[in-house]
Amino acid sequence: MKAIDLLKKDHDTVKKMFAAFEKMGSHAQKDRLAQAEEICEELRIHAAIEEEIFYPAVKSVRDKEAKFDVEEALEEHKQMKSAMEDALKDEGQEPAFAAKMKVLKENVEHHAGEEEKEIFKVARKLGDDRLEELGQQLQERKEALQAEDTGNHRQGTTKA
Ligand SMILES: [Fe+2]
Ligand SMILES: [Fe+2]
Repeated sequence: MKAIDLLKKDHDTVKKMFAAFEKMGSHAQKDRLAQAEEICEELRIHAAIEEEIFYPAVKSVRDKEAKFDVEEALEEHKQMKSAMEDALKDEGQEPAFAAKMKVLKENVEHHAGEEEKEIFKVARKLGDDRLEELGQQLQERKEALQAEDTGNHRQGTTKA
């Protein structure tokens, strides 16, 4: 699978996870917290594979916008990570939790939208072969990080 298709699929997955989170009633606090932790784990892995593999490749494209777009995306990742910490830190205490998860969701939607519009546009200049190769690397790294996370058992609560 091409890198941009894999990353777009991740974006769609996390959007569905947010939608499921929002459908959970306020009485389902335990489930909401577990779902929030899963969302954050998904986001952490996604951001890591982009930062390690995808962004450096995009940055190498000879395009005057490439460097700027990647720097901006890295800034947005930082904001996203602090929004995640903020949301998880009170262990689902309402009403703050719902509000903080909403902030995180808006952050993610904005960032994913920009990425699909700006970064993917630059990335297409890498050509299909290179995008396939990067897709393979992203997939392998993602699987390795997922295996690590499973080994760590609910990393969100032990390492945050
Ligand atoms: Fe990103
Ligand atoms: Fe992304």
